[in-house]
Amino acid sequence: MIHIDDITKSFDDGRSFAVRGVSLRVAQGETVVLLGASGCGKTTLLKLINRLIEPTSGRVEIDGRDVATVDPLELRRGIGYIFQDIGLFPHMSVSQNVEITPRLTGGTARTRSLLEAVGLDPDRYADRRPRELSGGQQQRVGIARALAGDPDILLMDEPFGALDAVTREQLQTELARIKRELDKTIIFVTHDIFEAVRLGDRIAVMRDGVIEQVGEAERLIREPATEFVGELFDHARRQAERLTEIEP
Ligand SMILES: Nc1ncnc2c1ncn2[C@@H]1O[C@H](COP(=O)(O)OP(=O)(O)OP(=O)(O)O)[C@@H](O)[C@H]1O
Ligand SMILES: [Mg+2]
Repeated sequence: MIHIDDITKSFDDGRSFAVRGVSLRVAQGETVVLLGASGCGKTTLLKLINRLIEPTSGRVEIDGRDVATVDPLELRRGIGYIFQDIGLFPHMSVSQNVEITPRLTGGTARTRSLLEAVGLDPDRYADRRPRELSGGQQQRVGIARALAGDPDILLMDEPFGALDAVTREQLQTELARIKRELDKTIIFVTHDIFEAVRLGDRIAVMRDGVIEQVGEAERLIREPATEFVGELFDHARRQAERLTEIEP
């Protein structure tokens, strides 16, 4: 269980807030999607959980332990993190990138099974460099690396952001399977409302550093708590309708 309690982060001048008084509980095995426009504080909120960023005030607890009291490196061993820009090491092979994860056990066999789990044939890809992979394949390596230490928690920052719709859907399906089979607690960042509805057990809609509403997609659609949330889903509906209006 992740418990974010009234957390605030202000940068620089102490007057502008990246994240402002955010509280959120994520249950064991749950996927919560952070949905919101560019600059609303999604990445900052993720990094406050694994202490890549320290809060101005408030706290985060994981399974009842205040993360501020845990050694950051130890903390991050229990949390798989997928960066917004993937961040593979260009001079290392695919398998070396996966194996860099601390506490990876089981050596080569485990690396092979991780690559298979994310849909990469190890015989073809294990020894390649990241630049010899497509963007989608690099994303898969990033996910394999995040899974390598078998963490309970996965923090995923727009992992499928740069992908075409078809590849994105494949990876969404694979993530849903990984989540079922491995029972991970996941916080997933996106600005794609359709992706949010597909993957989230609950969706937290963020705007200007605050969570406007958190709940199941159905709830957000039927009972939007703010005008912003209502408008967000109305806009998505109009987009979807525009496509469905065209007879195939
Ligand atoms: N190191 C920093 N110093 C100063 N301001 C920062 C820093 N990091 C983020 N910010 C500001 O905090 C706000 C939230 O940034 P954040 O990266 O969390 O947004 P985001 O929701 O992840 O956006 P995107 O969808 O574009 O990735 C932005 O206004 C950003 O400019
Ligand atoms: Mg971001």
